Amino acid sequence: MRTLQWLGLAGAACAAVLSGANADEVAASKKVTFYQDVLPILAANCQVCHREGGANLGGMVAPMAFTTYESTRPWAKAIADNVSTKKMPPWHASKEQHGVFLNERTITPAEADTLVAWAKSGAVKGNPSDAPEVKAWPQGEGWSIGTPDVVLKMSEKPFFVNDDVVDTYEYFNSTITKEMLPEPRWIKAIEFRPGSKVVHHIIATPLGGIAPGNDPTVFPDGMGRLLNPDTNVTWQMHYHKEPGPGTGTYDQSEAAIVFYPKDAKISHVLRDESLGRFDFRIPAGDANYSIKTEYTFEEDSKIVSMMPHMHVRGKAAKYEAVYPDGTSKVRLDVPNYDFNWQTRYQFKDFEFVPKGTKLVLTTAWDNSANNPNNPDPTASVTFGEPTTAEMSFGFMNYIKAVDQEDIEAALKEQGDGFGGRRRGGRQNFDLGQLLTTFDVDGDGKLQESETPEFMKRFFPLVDADKDGALTKEELTAAAKFMEQRRGGNDKDEVATERPQL
Ligand code: HEC
Repeated sequence: MRTLQWLGLAGAACAAVLSGANADEVAASKKVTFYQDVLPILAANCQVCHREGGANLGGMVAPMAFTTYESTRPWAKAIADNVSTKKMPPWHASKEQHGVFLNERTITPAEADTLVAWAKSGAVKGNPSDAPEVKAWPQGEGWSIGTPDVVLKMSEKPFFVNDDVVDTYEYFNSTITKEMLPEPRWIKAIEFRPGSKVVHHIIATPLGGIAPGNDPTVFPDGMGRLLNPDTNVTWQMHYHKEPGPGTGTYDQSEAAIVFYPKDAKISHVLRDESLGRFDFRIPAGDANYSIKTEYTFEEDSKIVSMMPHMHVRGKAAKYEAVYPDGTSKVRLDVPNYDFNWQTRYQFKDFEFVPKGTKLVLTTAWDNSANNPNNPDPTASVTFGEPTTAEMSFGFMNYIKAVDQEDIEAALKEQGDGFGGRRRGGRQNFDLGQLLTTFDVDGDGKLQESETPEFMKRFFPLVDADKDGALTKEELTAAAKFMEQRRGGNDKDEVATERPQL
């Protein structure tokens, strides 16, 4: 498929409009059959999700298997519709970035035409002997990353998600014990398995996590993360479902880890950074409200992947690199952000960024009534965990451009789960901005009613003189305290303050 991609570029924009007409030509010029024409396209582009036990994307296992004629035939029209409108395969980066990402999921206009022509000409079966040899998928319960060295459950016992639950965030702790991992090892691959269909996302700090649209993580050879024995893993589980009698279900999600062989040479530590902001307020009804966040690379680096994250009002996201010489370049553009697909965009060739490069993230929301996913266009929206509140994150993985030094540093930092992991996401938390944004009555203080949801539980702590309002002095003192604590105890910070999806 990818070898044909460059051919597809010019036609991509009008494919949706033209595919009907082209499909007619395809249908007239030859008899399109399932076995000869359709199955190879489905195998290469769709079956990774659309098969029994398909890629488990944050619990969103694709609902139907396109592996046999019998199971695909009823979906012929839906397939034609979904590829014409580009809803399937799911991929949201702009077409300027075609071919840039390793995990791109797109089909060519010619492939789309063939699928549409098949549906239009009666979804003919054809002759099974015409079928080219198609990919065999792993069977049953196997992990797609191979046989794991460690499988970690989120909790000892399954957790029951009650009948009345719509959205809930639950926290669990589990430990990678010395018995599981006697000595530090380099991680090659991690795969999460939701224990039930009501899992919307998993954040297992410091291992990582999944949300709909994520694939298992397999690091390129030579690149890894060091995992230490006795690493405590905190699981933030987001469960989401329709409520009602009998809808309750048990969950016990798991993570599987494959290590590099002990003698493997590791040249690069994978680092995390998140461009994040907490201090925004999206006006009610605003159809295009956007904010920017910056991160400056302190050393020559290479960007490995990027993953924008907003909630249901999220509309678009863009990462732009501003180089030290003043030039700039868009590195990822997601013009039609879709909360249901949390894709980590993985660069095919890691993006070199010299020291001093500024990465600028722009996130935009549609808080108007025209956004069909908007639960309440009359509300102004601030940062918060529920999907009805908003987030603005640009997660990013990168490596330093030079080899070796990283490894030494990582080994020195043992006791912290991952060696060399950076703390992320707070560099833009600006107290002045907090007051400007939330001090609605303009008295220079934050009353409890003005305090954003995510800060409310800290309110009594920060309100030192207990007068029911936070002054600039109180906020500054709190920030200082947190800064000191962060420096002194990284572990604590991991559990409570890392940005959460
Ligand atoms: C990354 C995983 C993934 C890939 C790849 C993928 N799909 Fe899907 N597909 C899904 C999921 C999940 C759903 C159900 C949720 C939804 O509708 O968004 C779905 C739903 C569908 C539906 C039903 C939509 C409806 O109207 O109910 C069709 C048809 C479909 N896919 C066709 C395809 C075809 C054809 C391809 C390949 C060209 C493909 N998909 C590739 C994950 C995938």
